[in-house]
Amino acid sequence: PETITVQELANRMAARGGEVVKALFRMGVMATLTQSVDADTAELVAQEFGHRVKRVAEDDIETGLEGAVDEEGEMLPRPPVVTIMGHVDHGKTSLLDALRKTDVAAREAGGITQHIGAYQVEVPGGGKVTFIDTPGHEAFTAMRARGASVTDMVVLVVAADDGVMPQTIEAIKHARAAEVPLIVAVNKIDKQGVNLDRVRNELLQHEIVVESLGGDVQEIQVSALKGTNLDKLLEAILLQAEILDLRANPARAGEGTVIESKLDRGRGPVATVLVQKGTLSTGDIVVAGSEWGRVRALVDDKGRPAKVAGPSAPVEVLGLSGVPGAGETVLAVESEARAREVSEFRQRKAREKTAAAISAGRGTLSDMLA
Ligand code: GTP
Ligand code: MG
Repeated sequence: PETITVQELANRMAARGGEVVKALFRMGVMATLTQSVDADTAELVAQEFGHRVKRVAEDDIETGLEGAVDEEGEMLPRPPVVTIMGHVDHGKTSLLDALRKTDVAAREAGGITQHIGAYQVEVPGGGKVTFIDTPGHEAFTAMRARGASVTDMVVLVVAADDGVMPQTIEAIKHARAAEVPLIVAVNKIDKQGVNLDRVRNELLQHEIVVESLGGDVQEIQVSALKGTNLDKLLEAILLQAEILDLRANPARAGEGTVIESKLDRGRGPVATVLVQKGTLSTGDIVVAGSEWGRVRALVDDKGRPAKVAGPSAPVEVLGLSGVPGAGETVLAVESEARAREVSEFRQRKAREKTAAAISAGRGTLSDMLA
């Protein structure tokens, strides 16, 4: 049964605690500010204070659209979302850039016109892979702290001439905590005198057992500089994706996560969103964190305007009321009223979280007072 403290109930009604205690007393309920009352009692008090009460289960608010239950047959394969991690200077950025150059679609679009926090590569020979270009481990940690799980797998870059270093170990821990598989990309194999066995043994010490040592972790030797074996790395990613059997229903309302965001002088708030479920479309009403708005425009990772963005697609969303934080969830909803409701719910949750951090408050009544 849901309860709420008298203080919290007063806060939500913007009423004084003492007044609420008095109202309860008149109803025959003795309670102090820190004590809890049940949902029915809270509703009666709220009505007494002239509020219309609408009870909403938390899950109903966050699950998005009514009837958005996916049928098995609607679940279609989606591209894997990959995060590249590794120690400083081991070649993460170089590898991402090199992989980007293999993109068939970018070549057709006449080169890469802009840089957003994630991009999709169309693999020569078929298939797509979405890469998240995390600025570092910190962002990854921040996103996970917010409960945002965006990546399907980690590509761990280890420079062949340097081996396993502190941030390599950190990346292994991140992948483990996120419970996602890992592929090892041994980079800089173009360098003289590199010792691959040494790298493999160092990985083994951290319980990463590559295939050549009898384990099940794929290991690809690459050179980001020379463009060596990039096709093999992409193949390994697609193979891992097949094992994971990644699927999503594109025929439902769009849901995703903010990868990065900014306030653009000309365009206003811009959020780079990784779509995870369904399809986002221009004209959709979306909530992003506690911001919301009607999608004025979508811009894909090649800088082209897009009408829609499906599962695993990274896309810039324009038209939001403000700048949502990285890791916030994005949800297309059916009406502005609904958008406001979700937005307010999230603002309240954020406030509650802050309050809970100060005093270990109880009371989780999820009533909405309107
Ligand atoms: P941080 O973002 O600072 O953590 O580094 P990073 O992991 O992104 O490494 P980055 O791509 O910036 O590469 C670091 C250095 O290694 C640069 O001087 C690259 O030119 C060089 N480098 C990257 N890949 C290779 C490679 O395959 N072979 C050789 N020889 N050098 C490489
Ligand atoms: Mg870098």
